[in-house]
Amino acid sequence: MRGKSVLLIIGGGIAAYKSLELVRRLKDRGVSVRAIMTKAAAEFVTPLSVASLSGERVFQDLFSLTDEAEMGHIQLSRSADLVVVAPATADLMAKLAGGHANDLASTALLATDKAVLMAPAMNVRMWNHPATQRNLKTLKSDGVLFVGPNEGDMACGEFGPGRMAEPNEIASAIENYFRSDRGALDGVRALVTAGPTQEPLDPVRFIANRSSGKQGYAIADALARAGADTTLVSGPVEIAPPTGVWLLKVTTAREMLAACESALPADVAVCTAAVADWRPEITANNKIKKEKGAATPSIRLIENPDILATLAKHRQRPQLLIGFAAETEDVVAHAAAKRLRKGCDWIVANDVSPHTGIMGGERNTVHLITANGAENWPELAKSEVGSRLAARIAETLKGKAA
Ligand SMILES: Cc1cc2nc3c(=O)[nH]c(=O)nc-3n(C[C@H](O)[C@H](O)[C@H](O)COP(=O)(O)O)c2cc1C
Repeated sequence: MRGKSVLLIIGGGIAAYKSLELVRRLKDRGVSVRAIMTKAAAEFVTPLSVASLSGERVFQDLFSLTDEAEMGHIQLSRSADLVVVAPATADLMAKLAGGHANDLASTALLATDKAVLMAPAMNVRMWNHPATQRNLKTLKSDGVLFVGPNEGDMACGEFGPGRMAEPNEIASAIENYFRSDRGALDGVRALVTAGPTQEPLDPVRFIANRSSGKQGYAIADALARAGADTTLVSGPVEIAPPTGVWLLKVTTAREMLAACESALPADVAVCTAAVADWRPEITANNKIKKEKGAATPSIRLIENPDILATLAKHRQRPQLLIGFAAETEDVVAHAAAKRLRKGCDWIVANDVSPHTGIMGGERNTVHLITANGAENWPELAKSEVGSRLAARIAETLKGKAA
């Protein structure tokens, strides 16, 4: 990151104090930081503190004549290698999603030709509000990058998602962005599966599982950002697809297998989807009725195709085939056995017991199991797991090609 520059936009939230720490972390890593503060941000931290830590004057006013004479707002918005918004308030997210530009921060966000990384921070209800979630979806599909928010105790006394990512997590996300392995997967074809499958009992009922698809989507995002031509085969999930991936939406395990086969050949496949092992033997054409006095129906299950094992034996087997193992006990031992049983190259294993909060959560603690043994990765944001995995894939494919 040494020699890079960041334009840091500080929004008006309690978490603004953490942006001071972020400035320090970035300066420590040799990144120059120029800051814009909103009017509200200056209610939480002083421009003097930000200027002292960044070593640069702080910009606050769109209509400041000296700023316009010395450096216009357009030039300011493009002066850095990356624009970071921390904290990204509900208001700043809404402004950018709606294309508003009525102060220096929002104008710079619209005028910039650089990537934007947002670290949202707000009360849990503000975060969960349909308006904020709508804005999030829009911003993601416009290519805005996100780090956090995390789940936890909030300054307002409530608990839930909305806490700004910690300064070191934001600094890691920035580091990721600047990583020299951007483009490391240029020319590589990648296939990722994500989410659950749904196996219908009748037109209105199905068997499914709690997979959110977040980890698979984060991996597809990381692969695409590293330059891979990425196909994401996704079961039914509630998240927006990452920018630049080819999305194939499916419902059942059999549809997922067919979509995967249609996406071959691929150099690497990462199977994160929680594919249902079984499906009802019979799917009723009409809703199964609860008849008075009739016996409770029983459901006979039959086995679904095993997508990972099928890809492992496929005549177009990807040269690097990676499976996921969601376990609730003896995680590493079960995953190592699964690697051999399925015939894949790597298994990424995680503990999905309810107390871990991994299923549906934003963070993950994984073990990477290869022919050389198991590596225990620290707890990371799912996006960071995706980036690290993409970097390992690039390294390995390069090694195989050499
Ligand atoms: C004490 C206090 C704390 C606030 N914390 C947040 C917050 O964490 N996140 C947020 O989105 N808004 C928060 N707000 C509301 C914003 O300050 C308000 O929406 C403001 O207009 C945002 O302006 P800006 O987006 O230009 O910075 C808070 C307001 C107050 C008074």
